[in-house]
Amino acid sequence: MNTISKRMFIQTMVLAASAIAALPVMAGGDVAAGKALYEGKGACTTCHGNKGEGDGPAAAALNPKPANFAKGDFRLDTDGDGKPGTDMDLANVIRQGAGKYGGNPAMPAHADLSEAEVADLIAYVRSLKQ
Ligand code: HEC
Repeated sequence: MNTISKRMFIQTMVLAASAIAALPVMAGGDVAAGKALYEGKGACTTCHGNKGEGDGPAAAALNPKPANFAKGDFRLDTDGDGKPGTDMDLANVIRQGAGKYGGNPAMPAHADLSEAEVADLIAYVRSLKQ
């Protein structure tokens, strides 16, 4: 590689790194911490069930049903990028609730969760896929 192409390579890498840093969802959530939130403070089990199969005690009364995380099929495209179920979509639904995005308003907003907690929950929800 000559000096110019080396420099271009470095510039491209710096740009790529800043694009990643600009993502509004924190990467690298902690699965164990997410599990504790899911079963504790987040009370996600009430609707989504212990294994995330969408069969918690409150699920029977809900339509659309709570998402089944064991199947990992997400339907809400919160940022309109044509791809439902990205980390951004899950973060938006967890933070703001599903009603804001045309989903079931029974899926509540969780404004009290920190960015790190949202990332931990996403990591745990994804780990439930079978
Ligand atoms: C009171 C019931 C209830 C609770 C509590 C609840 N959810 Fe939900 N959740 C739902 C329902 C209902 C849907 C389905 C929304 C839809 O598809 O219209 C849903 C959907 C979702 C989705 C998928 C959205 C999609 O694109 O398909 C995610 C992710 C999610 N919930 C995460 C969580 C997490 C994490 C928690 C705990 C912090 C939680 N939910 C707590 C009822 C609940």
